[in-house]
Amino acid sequence: MAIRKKILCIGAGYVGGPSMAMIAHKCPDYRVTVVDINPERIDAWNSEQLPVFEPGLDTIVKKTRGKNLFFRKDIENQIRDNDIIFVSVNTPTKSYGAGAHMAADLQYVEKTARQILKNAQSSKIVIEKSTLPVKTALAMEKILSSRKGKIRFDVLSNPEFMAEGTAVKDLENPDRVLIGSRETPGGLKARDHLIKIYTRWVPLNRIITSSIWSSELSKLVANAFLAQRVSSINSISALCEKTDADIDEVARAVGMDKRIGDRFLKAGIGFGGSCFKKDILNLVYLCNHYGLRDVAAYWENVLRINEYQRERFVNHILHSMFGTLSEKKICILGFAFKADTGDTRESPAFYITQKLVAEQADVVISDPRALKNAAADLSGIKGNVKFVDDPYRAAADCHAVLILTDWDLYRRLDYRKIYRSMIKPAFLFDGRNILDHQQCFSIGFNVYPIGKRALTHF
Ligand code: NAD
Ligand code: UGA
Repeated sequence: MAIRKKILCIGAGYVGGPSMAMIAHKCPDYRVTVVDINPERIDAWNSEQLPVFEPGLDTIVKKTRGKNLFFRKDIENQIRDNDIIFVSVNTPTKSYGAGAHMAADLQYVEKTARQILKNAQSSKIVIEKSTLPVKTALAMEKILSSRKGKIRFDVLSNPEFMAEGTAVKDLENPDRVLIGSRETPGGLKARDHLIKIYTRWVPLNRIITSSIWSSELSKLVANAFLAQRVSSINSISALCEKTDADIDEVARAVGMDKRIGDRFLKAGIGFGGSCFKKDILNLVYLCNHYGLRDVAAYWENVLRINEYQRERFVNHILHSMFGTLSEKKICILGFAFKADTGDTRESPAFYITQKLVAEQADVVISDPRALKNAAADLSGIKGNVKFVDDPYRAAADCHAVLILTDWDLYRRLDYRKIYRSMIKPAFLFDGRNILDHQQCFSIGFNVYPIGKRALTHF
């Protein structure tokens, strides 16, 4: 098949890999290449064991890899050779200097822009796919236009809204695709090129356009709103525990109001993942930068409640288990920050494990996909932490089981068998409210859900 467009993506991570695999899958006449500075990541994308676990991803990568999807290490050649360049590098929270622990660290994005400038021998469309502070495109444009000559660069913003664990579904059937551009003839032409790619599979009415600044800001705001809902319901879960109300019943009643909607109202141990916290911090930093202190404080509280929720969870464990966890064996079921991913970045399970170890508990961690990442995250921790694949073996001889990730697998375990293998009295803390609490109580567990009355035999 004749190749009609040549697309490059710089950054082969959780976003770059799956989103480019989807373009290659939907556009067999486009050649899509993904590059990364990390050679092991590229090797993994070219292997049988992809570096990212996402339901359905294996299938589309296998269908396209080597045909019109390529994972390569020769970044400079690829910049020369492609016309449309997505930038999907990481934008973590800055850990040093001005804005440390708040602002986004833009060094990777800037290095990418400079590398594009250095190696490009023809005009390019450069697309921000990474999540960036509003006005980053201006810096990109300034760098890319710093060399005088005939080559032109048009910068677009096309933030990614996929969630991990459902990336393939989200990419295949997005609620919307957002494209921000300059209102110049060059900007509008570049925008049309990108629209043409997405219309291969996304209905036109779901492809929305805006100014670059609105597009950059919308991405931060979308994540802030989602996180805010989780913090809102989690804050109310604390009140439920004091008043005998049931958080799932409250969420159902509230969510049935069409103006509110029923999604993102599941109380738990707080949100994790690589983006909610960093994007809210970024938003808070921006508001402070523009002197909007009250607005900054409003969003900062979304993060505060998130920390409060996981602290509350550990305190609840400590007090329910008679005030001491020293040398008690605690089994953690689930270390990923959510189900259907092996990603553990900012997972509440990490913070909870740290706190349990600080209380001198012996911790056994099980997870169907995230044990390798869990072991890496906890490699520096001083304390007794073990990693066990089989959830039944992990729970055996434990004083308590904690459900920290909403894996479907944990709904279907034989809790009678688990109960029999545990030290009594056996404690069950359901940090995701996914179990049948009454049934677990009947088996013999002392059951502690989130935002509902505990069921205890004492
Ligand atoms: P990631 O860390 O998984 O991947 C980023 C990749 O970029 C890494 O492999 C890194 O080696 C590579 N990289 C960094 N600098 C480079 C350079 N100069 N040249 C080539 N490669 C370079 O990150 P991610 O989770 O894919 O996130 C990427 C961006 O997308 C972030 O801005 C994030 O906020 C945003 N985002 C993430 C998600 C998600 O679900 N993870 C969803 C939407 C948006
Ligand atoms: C989130 C957004 O949902 C995506 O739209 C966005 O593209 C992405 O961030 C990003 O920019 O990285 P993700 O973090 O992958 O996606 O996963 P979510 O499904 O949003 O879950 C985030 C966290 O909130 C998880 O820890 C999850 O367990 C928790 N959560 C979510 C709840 O505790 N309750 C809920 O009702 C929903």
